[in-house]
Amino acid sequence: MSSKKVALITGANRGIGLETAKQLGEKGIIVILTARKQTVADEAAAGLSESGIEAYGIELDVRSDADRKAVADYIEKKFGKLDILINNAGVGPKGAGLFDVKNVETDQEEFDYVFGTNFYSVVFLTNELLPLLKKSEAGRIVNLSSILGSLGLHAQDDSPIAALKRLSYNASKTALNVFTNHLAAELADTKIKVNSAHPGWVQTELGGSEAPMEITDGAKTSVALALIGEEGPNGRFIHQGEELPW
Ligand SMILES: NC(=O)c1ccc[n+]([C@@H]2O[C@H](COP(=O)([O-])OP(=O)(O)OC[C@H]3O[C@@H](n4cnc5c(N)ncnc54)[C@H](OP(=O)(O)O)[C@@H]3O)[C@@H](O)[C@H]2O)c1
Repeated sequence: MSSKKVALITGANRGIGLETAKQLGEKGIIVILTARKQTVADEAAAGLSESGIEAYGIELDVRSDADRKAVADYIEKKFGKLDILINNAGVGPKGAGLFDVKNVETDQEEFDYVFGTNFYSVVFLTNELLPLLKKSEAGRIVNLSSILGSLGLHAQDDSPIAALKRLSYNASKTALNVFTNHLAAELADTKIKVNSAHPGWVQTELGGSEAPMEITDGAKTSVALALIGEEGPNGRFIHQGEELPW
């Protein structure tokens, strides 16, 4: 079993995921970068290896059961445990920016795509990797949620997100937050901590060019939650150290 910490980051070929892998790697953690294609994952890992980070690439379409099982098998054989799981991969509706998407008239195809990636896949991948996380001395799971999934804030007419009603994306992140809450309760007797992260509104393909936050800062909440100690939060929804309402 590896004596160094091992982290797996989904959707790590670009955006917040790639930056999270970089920042964790710079702290001496072995990082496994996943992408939908092996060549893309290898390229992302090679980019970090050039600066001295121990990085590996592996193919993972989070919606594929076969890929999820292959990843668990790979980690079991290569490292024997997993210390950090960052469920980062996420999508808005196909062919639309986050702020152009439809609200309640969303069709089934869109729901399948958005929930399939942002919610079901996170549940299935996490379940697949839990036996490896339980072998860690202090397993950490970070679920990349969004403030747009905060039902508490949507219910307040004067909240900053009150006007941003985008059903498929928002509900997928609300559902993800339920998973965080329920998983934390289930793992209460273990050393694993699980939290939801809101990265901020970040300049990525998903966030768009008008977003105020640079990717470097957008990765900080994920990195901080990946590295929390025994006294750190568990089963919480966090943005830059502050708790958000569910
Ligand atoms: N940016 C923001 O302002 C913001 C705000 C709140 C929350 N978030 C959340 O933060 C996370 C990262 O977002 P981002 O802004 O970095 O987005 P991004 O730049 O669009 O990157 C998304 C990543 O997810 C991957 N991905 C999508 N579907 C996948 C699948 N089926 N299997 C595997 N990988 C898949 C993409 O891979 P491909 O390259 O193959 O498409 C890409 O690597 C998401 O969960 C998002 O909802 C972002």
